[in-house]
Amino acid sequence: MSDTNKKVVLAYSGGLDTSVMIAWLKQKYGLETVAVLVDVGRVSGLEELRAKALDIGAVEALVVDAKEEFARDFILPALAANALYEQKYPLVSSLSRPLISKVLVEAAREHGAVAIAHGCTAKGNDQVRFDLGIRALAPELEIMAPAREWGMTREQAIDYAAENGIPVPLKKESPYSIDENMWGRAVECGPLEDPWSEPPEDAYEHTVSPAKAPDEAAYIEVAFEAGVPVSFDGVAMDLTALLAGIDELAGAHGFGRIDMIENRLVGIKSREVYEAPAALALIRAHRELEDLTLPRELAHFKQGLEQKFAELAYYGSWYDPLMDALRAFIAETQKRVTGTVRLKLYKGGCTVVGRKSPNSLYETGLATYGAADSFSHDAARGFCELYGLPLEVWARKGGFRE
Ligand code: ARG
Repeated sequence: MSDTNKKVVLAYSGGLDTSVMIAWLKQKYGLETVAVLVDVGRVSGLEELRAKALDIGAVEALVVDAKEEFARDFILPALAANALYEQKYPLVSSLSRPLISKVLVEAAREHGAVAIAHGCTAKGNDQVRFDLGIRALAPELEIMAPAREWGMTREQAIDYAAENGIPVPLKKESPYSIDENMWGRAVECGPLEDPWSEPPEDAYEHTVSPAKAPDEAAYIEVAFEAGVPVSFDGVAMDLTALLAGIDELAGAHGFGRIDMIENRLVGIKSREVYEAPAALALIRAHRELEDLTLPRELAHFKQGLEQKFAELAYYGSWYDPLMDALRAFIAETQKRVTGTVRLKLYKGGCTVVGRKSPNSLYETGLATYGAADSFSHDAARGFCELYGLPLEVWARKGGFRE
């Protein structure tokens, strides 16, 4: 690829590496860069970043607002699946990569690019997610990963930037590698690489330390319609606003931190820190509402699929036919999941303290140990027989004494 008119679409973040790539792709391969910055929430200074890409020499720089699509097509299915990789991680970065891939492919087609480049290194999961996402959607496009190829250290990249008139971030570099979007924030590297040492406070940005959380608990109510959160404390809002509202409140109460050892797709164990107050609170609330509304066998069966969903999403297999089928099944289960959940936020904790639903399968008459109920002894015996329950349940109703 040495034809000067050939174009490459670059997944541009505005950071040092992807800035350097604009110059490097031109020097090494004679490619003109179309820089594409995809906004999936929580990016600031979009206009400056766009201008910077053009300054460095990109022939085109686009900022694509994909927040709504991210919420609707990626976050909602993940919430419906209560998706937590290895029971802990709400798939913050994993969910955005397939969407960013899609936007890149669209840009490549629109601008007649022959390749797509991303800034991932060879150690992480994100490279696989981009490679698989792009390959699934546009097998004809070449995929380039300059950082896997050039072998530059951070210092070398800074030198390269200086030699090529690329502005280098002035403020002291954060020791962390951070990726964030409206579903949460992922933090890696630096002092976190020692799995024995406690994450420094400065690793966190959206949550306070539980020790500094208010002494007074806060209560929130989230209402769902068919599995979709539709209101927060009685106020109807779209998912973007709802996430921002819960993030702020739950984060202020010290909830939402995760410190875990994670099995990466590439065969490495890594120590990861996340903060995702809204994602974790919503999954908790949603799960609770399912407990109230889904029949037992469906609830149990769904759990196995949830784990598979989380794995596939983590592995970057979003466009795999199995994923389509899982999503379809899970969507079917959500029809009943309507109601309201009340959460209590207190000193780093988030507990469900109330739930109600027009589709509730909870019957006070069946559940009560008290005397006052409308459930007849005959009905109790019939119920025990039908479900193979020990007759003591019936006996508890006073059946044997009658
Ligand atoms: N380990 C997480 C994942 O694989 C987070 C990756 C974050 N990416 C980053 N460039 N810091 O989904």
